[in-house]
Amino acid sequence: MRLQDKVAIVTGSTSGIGKSIAEGFANEGANVIICGRRQELAKGIVDELLSKGLKAIAIRLDVTIEESIDGLVNQVVDQYGRIDILVNNSGISPVWKRAEDTPKEAWDQIIATNLTGTFLCSQVVGRVMIEQKNGRIINMTSVGGEVALPRLVAYCASKAGIVMLTKVLAAEWAQHNIMVNGIGPSFVETDFTAGLRSNEKIYSDLKDKNPLKRFATPEEIVGTAIFLASDESSYITGQTIFIDGGWLTI
Ligand SMILES: NC(=O)c1ccc[n+]([C@@H]2O[C@H](COP(=O)([O-])OP(=O)(O)OC[C@H]3O[C@@H](n4cnc5c(N)ncnc54)[C@H](OP(=O)(O)O)[C@@H]3O)[C@@H](O)[C@H]2O)c1
Repeated sequence: MRLQDKVAIVTGSTSGIGKSIAEGFANEGANVIICGRRQELAKGIVDELLSKGLKAIAIRLDVTIEESIDGLVNQVVDQYGRIDILVNNSGISPVWKRAEDTPKEAWDQIIATNLTGTFLCSQVVGRVMIEQKNGRIINMTSVGGEVALPRLVAYCASKAGIVMLTKVLAAEWAQHNIMVNGIGPSFVETDFTAGLRSNEKIYSDLKDKNPLKRFATPEEIVGTAIFLASDESSYITGQTIFIDGGWLTI
């Protein structure tokens, strides 16, 4: 029970990696806030966790809308009195095109969700954490924040921004005992990669490029998230841990 009674918001926990992280936190004793735009899914996850005797609530969140972030944070503070952990996991990647063909609308949408959404959630939750002089923020980035992934220009730019955002927030908020770190997967078997995986050639090329020759499962991201949220990582801040099967070694 490494997160006993901690209050943890996991953005984008209606599916995929965020859902697995939220379940992992709940199994470690945390009160988890399941959030995203798809409330039916959020409520289903909460029901499942409650049926196992774990602690969770569902709150609707759209990270591209400031009022939605404010509403969520106010509701969590009203209910629990504090926020111990924020996982900025919400993310999208709707375009697979060369830079010259990437529509500006897609660029704007990706930056607004992945980068600006991460900043705004960190800012609003950060104010609460500064007040309580304690907190953990974990930002979901990608190997695409470190090396080029062709046809993903906006996605890579957004994730590189998150790597730097993580460093700046860590530097500014260390004085408030707030640790800010990132997690950077390569490719994970979630809905997010369903399109890529449905193309046999792309799927096998991506697996072949990875030293481990496979995608990760969402569960393989959870242990690092628990570690970064727990007291075990109390002297680590500003880092991004890449869970990439060796992608960045070659
Ligand atoms: N899968 C991979 O290969 C991979 C690799 C590296 C990094 N990542 C990162 O991991 C994170 C999770 O991805 P995943 O693979 O688990 O994909 P996923 O199953 O599609 O999950 C994405 C989550 O983001 C939420 N989301 C999207 N737009 C949102 C918005 N405007 N407001 C609030 N929540 C929003 C979605 O919830 P709603 O639709 O309910 O809003 C969903 O829960 C993303 O940041 C992604 O970039 C994934």
